[in-house]
Amino acid sequence: MTQTITERAPAKINLALHVRARRTDGYHALETLFAFLEDGDELHFTPGAASFTIEGPFAAALSGEGDNLVLRAARGFAAAFGVAVDGAWVLEKNLPVASGIGGGSADAAAALRILARRHDVARDDPRLFAVADALGSDVPACLLGEPALGTGRGEQLDPLGRLGGVPVLLVNPGVAVSTGPVFKAWDGVDRGAIVKGATLDRALAGRNDLEAPARTIAPAIGAVIDLLRATAPTLARMSGSGATCFALYARDDQRAAAADWVRAAQPGWWCLESRLS
Ligand code: C5P
Repeated sequence: MTQTITERAPAKINLALHVRARRTDGYHALETLFAFLEDGDELHFTPGAASFTIEGPFAAALSGEGDNLVLRAARGFAAAFGVAVDGAWVLEKNLPVASGIGGGSADAAAALRILARRHDVARDDPRLFAVADALGSDVPACLLGEPALGTGRGEQLDPLGRLGGVPVLLVNPGVAVSTGPVFKAWDGVDRGAIVKGATLDRALAGRNDLEAPARTIAPAIGAVIDLLRATAPTLARMSGSGATCFALYARDDQRAAAADWVRAAQPGWWCLESRLS
């Protein structure tokens, strides 16, 4: 009997994202605190005839896409490990696309984890991380899947401790934002390094330097941040290149009350109640 292999593709957030310099290769040198949520997309793989199906609330947003990152990840794995990886992929797309929470990168990382399980490749095999690196700056972090300080273009990772269940609310105003143009709109000012210390203290003292440029492209981000700040979080900030913003709370009931309030104020916005992992 052929066994279906399933992996979760948790949403990623950047607790802080400091852009330090433009590089000559078209990327930016940055320092970022990656964290992951308990919720996200889900990916299933059944070895056999090749197919690719997208289901779930955000399936339609990807339907016109010819070459999903999952399939590119599978091709990268096949080339790196010299194996055939044919099978049926089913992606349950629960996260909004082009939204700063790593959806496509998380899906690609889940595909690599699935193929690593199937072909007995260790999760920390450097070749797996090399495949991830070639797929996108956030894919290695998503492959690691635990809190980490990212440097370089985000692919050099120093693991931090688990963040153990911190309540988090994600809010997206329904605007898709492409990463490239946001980095391009960065003003070139280095506002300094992420401070040393405990992860959440570092986050509190930090910034997202992409927030200002993202707001020039998607002004609704300002309204999301304002609404979240009014819910008395410990921290409210944009993630990645936007437009999704997150808020952290001390307790689950505070997050639940904040989510109710945001849904009542902006019924059209996407909200996800979750916890950091
Ligand atoms: O690496 P990835 O393909 O996810 O990056 C998408 C785009 O975001 C890049 O083409 C680049 O324009 C921008 N980017 C950047 N600096 C980074 C990461 C991404 O300028 N560190």
